[in-house]
Amino acid sequence: MTAGATMPDETLSNLMHETRRFAPPADLVAAANVTAAAYDESAADQEAFWATQARRLDWDTDFTRVLDWDNPPFAKWFTGGRINAAYNCVDRHVAAGRGDQVALHFVGEPGDTRDVTYAQLQDEVSQAANALAALGVTTGDRVAIYLPMIPEAVIAMLACARLGAPHTVVFGGFSSDALASRITDCGAKVVITADGGYRRGAPSALKPAVDEARAKAADRDGHRVERVLVVRRTGQEVAWDDDVDVWWHGAVASASTEHQCEFFDAEHPLFVMYTSGTTGKPKGILHTTGGYLVGAAYTHHAVFDLKPETDVYWCTADIGWITGHSYITYGPLANGVTQVIYEGTPDSPHKGRWWEIIQQYGVTIFYTAPTAIRTFMKWGRDIPGEFDLSSLRLLGSVGEPINPEAYVWYRNVIGGDRTPVVDTWWQTETGMIMISPLPGVTHGKPGSAMKALPGVGAEVVDENGVPVPNGSGGYLVLTQPWPSMLRTLWGDDDRFVETYWSRFAEQGYYFAGDGAKKDEDGDIWVLGRVDDVMNVSGHRLSTTEIESALVSHPSVAEAAVVGAADETTGQAVCAFVILRESAATGGDVVTELRNHVAKEIGAIAKPRQIMIVPELPKTRSGKIMRRLLRDVAENRKVGDTTTLADSSIMDLISAGQATSTED
Ligand code: WT7
Repeated sequence: MTAGATMPDETLSNLMHETRRFAPPADLVAAANVTAAAYDESAADQEAFWATQARRLDWDTDFTRVLDWDNPPFAKWFTGGRINAAYNCVDRHVAAGRGDQVALHFVGEPGDTRDVTYAQLQDEVSQAANALAALGVTTGDRVAIYLPMIPEAVIAMLACARLGAPHTVVFGGFSSDALASRITDCGAKVVITADGGYRRGAPSALKPAVDEARAKAADRDGHRVERVLVVRRTGQEVAWDDDVDVWWHGAVASASTEHQCEFFDAEHPLFVMYTSGTTGKPKGILHTTGGYLVGAAYTHHAVFDLKPETDVYWCTADIGWITGHSYITYGPLANGVTQVIYEGTPDSPHKGRWWEIIQQYGVTIFYTAPTAIRTFMKWGRDIPGEFDLSSLRLLGSVGEPINPEAYVWYRNVIGGDRTPVVDTWWQTETGMIMISPLPGVTHGKPGSAMKALPGVGAEVVDENGVPVPNGSGGYLVLTQPWPSMLRTLWGDDDRFVETYWSRFAEQGYYFAGDGAKKDEDGDIWVLGRVDDVMNVSGHRLSTTEIESALVSHPSVAEAAVVGAADETTGQAVCAFVILRESAATGGDVVTELRNHVAKEIGAIAKPRQIMIVPELPKTRSGKIMRRLLRDVAENRKVGDTTTLADSSIMDLISAGQATSTED
């Protein structure tokens, strides 16, 4: 998203009507962590509200000021306070007598399992901190983490936090190039990795990518990584450099389990998380310690209604994304959760693997992404139907707009029609959930993230920064600072100001880059990045709305819509559709789907072209790469596919164009 992106004056068409409503279950309401009073409390005094939330953490030195916004958009929260994030996530639970509680139920892809209690976690984090210190890591040094989803990933993050050494976790699916540029950009001194991890039933190497990245960082960028700490996970052969490489099982296992932690300024950097921008190099989103932890812990408590003594929580994200940072490591552990972490993919060794894990551990709260939900819809309800999912009491969704049909399927098939679904809108930059229902307060509306959480200000505004009336669309902005907001882009204050704060500088709003609409009740529907909005014959159409209409057809599992240049209409709607396995083949499904969209939304939204495809091009985090689909729709050579999770997919799609129709 560039700051200069524009959106013409016409408001977003608000054409879809969704009337289903789901009341919160009575037992959840009766015992809810957060009630409607929180909205009033925060509205009365935002800073007092966040000061109260900060009390759920242990501070070594109390803060003297809640928010310093004297030099916007550079915020400081909880100034004067001193805190250690790892202490708050681990030690204090042990000190409170909860050392025997399981923190992590680890499930490896090959079927190995391991439970880690809080007492064990404290020992291992302390050992890892001692080992890192012995390798020369001191406060302020950056450490890159490139690991599979194993307990050591969480332990490594916490060990860095314990030392005040900001980590940058790089998703294990990224290439050595991506790893090298991140290592260089933040100047990582040490890298923590593994020989490999398991993926789809086979070991998949990680260490060779680190070796390459280290060489690239040195040769290309002149940055030297001093040491590489290597977890043995798969036992596969690795190349070894005695001057650099150190085995985790040697250095960490032999280190002392005693580590006296230091407390750091609330604004001490906790981590840098890289996220892609529209142009140029990835942006290093900087999060600091006190405010970030307050935001992650409060929202986890509020949105998931977490009861640490009885709930079993599972967030399926990878530790390499912000969701893994805020809602696996920091928020849940600060709240003393028992959680599942799973190494592998949902279909290995069988398509019921996730449901089997939920049954086995009695998972009560489950948090995943719409792309996964739509995949399960495609596989059919019989697969989850084989497992006992009755322990579930709350479901969450994150990452992209959830189509109403997917929401209802999730609630019905996975949640047995008992569980609220919380659609949570946020970003790497926001660090915490910003817009979401409160499960004990809000009536669920399929497809809507509803409204700003207590303590958060969100609005939908027009071109001039003026709030749009209910029933209209515009730009999603955040109107007031929040504790876990990004503080800057690592090493690039100017780009930080330009990217997020220049579009509505006059109003002082943070521009999220998303389009949204407010419905008749004023509830917010996020429509996706503003670059994904199309203009067809002067009507602003959201790709999301048309995709939702397509997915509401019983034959459709997944759909991606792009606008392709069209001589008569400006842009025309082009849809790429994956059919459900159960879909009746034969008949003119394309005509049927075009008519279906016309019926659901209106003739204006009727796709010019529908292509039936076997897969959609997605990034490794599951975001559809519409840019590539636009190339196909506009008959161009397909552009750069290097960030695709599976680069062969574009060949499949291009080859399948014969199945498209046009009139
Ligand atoms: C972008 C942020 C937040 C962690 C995962 C993604 C989209 C995210 C929703 C939602 C509609 C959503 C937005 C946002 N997004 N959640 N519930 N409804 N859109 O983090 O990679 O920083 O992406 O994801 O477009 O701006 P991210």
